Amino acid sequence: MDRIELTKARWFKGEISPPPDKSISHRAVFFSSLSKGKSNIKNFLRAEDTMSTLNAFRKLGVEIQEIVIPPSPPLVKGGKGGFSGELIVHGKGLYGLKEPFDVINCGNSGTTIRLIAGVLSGNPFFSVLTGDESLRQRPMARVITPLRQMGAEIMARAGDKYPPVAIKGGRLHAIKYTMPVASAQVKSAILLAGLYAEGETEVIEPFQSRDHTERMLPALGAEITVEGLHIKIKGGTELRGTDIYVPGDFSSAAFFIVAALLVPDSEILIKNVGVNPTRTGLLEVLKQMGANIELTNIRDISLNSPLITHHSSLFVGEPVADIYCKGGKELNAVQITKEKIPSLIDEFPILCVAATQATGITTIRGAEELRVKESDRIKAMATELRKMGIEIEEFEDGLSIKGKCGLKGTIIESYGDHRIAMAMSIAALIADGTTTINGISSVNISFPGFFEILMRLTE
Ligand code: S3P
Repeated sequence: MDRIELTKARWFKGEISPPPDKSISHRAVFFSSLSKGKSNIKNFLRAEDTMSTLNAFRKLGVEIQEIVIPPSPPLVKGGKGGFSGELIVHGKGLYGLKEPFDVINCGNSGTTIRLIAGVLSGNPFFSVLTGDESLRQRPMARVITPLRQMGAEIMARAGDKYPPVAIKGGRLHAIKYTMPVASAQVKSAILLAGLYAEGETEVIEPFQSRDHTERMLPALGAEITVEGLHIKIKGGTELRGTDIYVPGDFSSAAFFIVAALLVPDSEILIKNVGVNPTRTGLLEVLKQMGANIELTNIRDISLNSPLITHHSSLFVGEPVADIYCKGGKELNAVQITKEKIPSLIDEFPILCVAATQATGITTIRGAEELRVKESDRIKAMATELRKMGIEIEEFEDGLSIKGKCGLKGTIIESYGDHRIAMAMSIAALIADGTTTINGISSVNISFPGFFEILMRLTE
């Protein structure tokens, strides 16, 4: 039974630590696998997407040991470990990967397939990448075009549009590439290929996307310079392993932040959340809407964490904070335009839910990228919120939502998309009657145990 029934919540209270950051966990495995020597990854996200990356590097010959840390308290009765683990990665260096014996299945993970295409382009062997039904409909031309320009032989289904992707890598040369879309996955794929290229590879983004790659790669020895939206990487520099600590995922915390703002009688503290400004656009928008949110204990965890007593070289490189939210404030509608989208790209579904309770009409435009995520998130949110009684106008690049409206319980589809399932579950907490959410196992992509934590925080 892949569904859950939810009813209106009377309150939403407590203290939680969200799962480790998905984007940073992926990158920790990528970069440590390509380094020489051992890396210890602390607070690694154990979820389906990051396991796709881990399994991919195992297929490429990298030895990765997993240490499962039992959660406290357990997420699921009798369950085996929680969403946080520890990895010991025995990196192979840039040139130590082996040709995979079989197709590499990237599951549902866009980050895995895009970034690994960059790595495999620089390796002199044949590989094939595929994924689940959703991933096989996600655009690959955005990485194929620049990687081909760098010298990779690379082909994909449907005229080089979609996975499966076949790659014969080899000697690459540096390019200067102006990206047509702001995408951290595309940027990171080019930077990874740039590690293998002769010369200095340059990438220029139209808008700032998440910068975890630029922050983490230099800690392992890569030579990167960043000037605004212009990033350069020197090819041929070997990486060396280091210890990496992954902060909590702001995108997972976002569901609880909005729940606390919408459910009456709410107050929560979300601890140890990554607050990299390229990720926290939702916070600014919610504050602009009138929300009561405070960041406390803002820190560079590498300076004052007890963790560093045993790991003097522990790399974090990301700002971390605790997030306090108290409900009960009136929210007002906002207008969101294109340049804001990358900093809240994964928060679009939950922002739509917040907009249903804001006075006025919230409009989100310039968000056409949302149509090519794990599902068509513009269509999914418009369809499902309309079913709950909300007036929505859909545009090719976004939507407008008439707020301050009551929601009514109904049967909701998640389209196999983790963020739709979680966002609509928060909508269910303020809806009249019972809401059934179908396809809830999708939450395991980024947030195993989401419903157990939700139940603990509410009644
Ligand atoms: C990600 C980048 C974003 C985001 C995705 C994770 C990453 O995608 O939506 O969930 O880890 O680099 P795009 O870079 O394609 O916008």
